[in-house]
This record gives sequence, C-alpha cells and structure tokens, in this order.
Amino acid sequence: MHPQDETSRLPPLDVDGLIADIETQGYARISGFIPLDELGRAQGAVRGAVQANGGESVMLIGDEQTSAVLPMMERVTEVTRLICERVETRHADLETTYKIVRCLSGGSVAQHSMVFHFDSFVLTALVPVIMPVRGSPGDLIIAPNTRPLRNSYARNLLDKLIVDNPLTQRILRRMHAGGSARFTRLHLAPGDLYLFWGYRTLHTNEPVDGGEVRCTALVHRGRMHPDSALWRALHR
Ligand SMILES: [Fe+2]
Repeated sequence: MHPQDETSRLPPLDVDGLIADIETQGYARISGFIPLDELGRAQGAVRGAVQANGGESVMLIGDEQTSAVLPMMERVTEVTRLICERVETRHADLETTYKIVRCLSGGSVAQHSMVFHFDSFVLTALVPVIMPVRGSPGDLIIAPNTRPLRNSYARNLLDKLIVDNPLTQRILRRMHAGGSARFTRLHLAPGDLYLFWGYRTLHTNEPVDGGEVRCTALVHRGRMHPDSALWRALHR
C-alpha cells in the first residue's frame, strides 16, 4: 500500500489536545500510531542493519533512509507540521526538519546514553521501534519545559555550556539516580508516538544492556536561531 493511502485512513488529530498535553505534562502520546505490520517490518530491517554493522550502533539519517525503514515517518512529519503551525516564535525556521533512526547496540551504546541535552529544534517527535525486553529498558528521561524558547543563539549557547560539561552532567545523573521529582521517566512502547518540546526540555535516554538493541525514529522540527551570525561563525 502506498504510504499516502495508509495515512489517509488515520483519524484526524486533536492538535490542541496534543499541545495541551505537551505544555502540562511535558509530553503527548498517541498509542498504536504505527500499524503493527509496518512496525514488524521496521524491526526486521533495523535488526538486519545492526547485524550488518557487526552488532554496533547504526544511524539512518534523512528523508530517504528513514522512510525506507519506516514509511509512517511521512505521517509523523505531518503531525510535527500541524503542531508547529501553532508555535509563535520569530526565532525558528519551522519548515526545517531533521530525521534520524537511531539504532543503539553493542559497545557504542554507552556514549549515546545518559547525556542530558537540549535539542536545537523546537519540537521532537519520537517513535520507539525496538525497546529492550531484557535488563535496563532504555527509558526516556525528560525534565519537561526546563527553559523557554531563547531569543538569541548566544543565550542558547550559554545554556549549552552550562549543561554540556562533566560537572553538570554528574549532578544531573545523581539527581536522576536519587529519584528527583524534576524528571519524568517514560517507559517507551514500540509503535506509539511521543512528542515533546525538544529545545525546551532537558532530556536523555537510559542505557541498555549488552546484546540488546534500542531503536527510535525521530523527527525534529523547527531549527532555532537560523539567522544567527554567531551560529554560522561557529559552524563554518
Ligand atoms: Fe535529543
């Protein structure tokens, strides 16, 4: 079935309700977003890709690669567009998206886990494809809506400098280990869709045990500070 036919069968979205959930509880969730047959095919493709990479992590990036694994990425992208239409900011390009399927496995898992960060995009949409059933489940940890949309890239950079250093990371990990009420733990269900303000929300994923695969498909929308001269200078 063509992806367009697949998506046109879906019920209309309550966009206001999704935004209200993101604002009040820090995230929105649509259960059973991915049809089970498509989810099964995606899981097979991902396991094949990880195996072909010697059991190590694989990142699939961009429209073509991500939609090849998960055709519903088109519908996820549409959901992010409908939500971002309601976002009022002069500091984001709400048309830009960044799509990635992250397949974490093997010895490289640790470097992708328990690293608290803010995204560079307004909205993050996440579909768990494979979550470990043995050992640590690789839950998503969020501190909802920790900061506002910043007016300048320089102010955003200051946030990043504060967060992206070993001392802060150690403090955050200790807070998380101590059960701090600042964090919400999301035990992710494959095939559901999760949405949160990625730029505003400090977040990370917990590690997974050796031999397990944790795979999530992500659509980020609305790159912040697209006109920043400082950003361009730093990324030249
Ligand atoms: Fe992120």
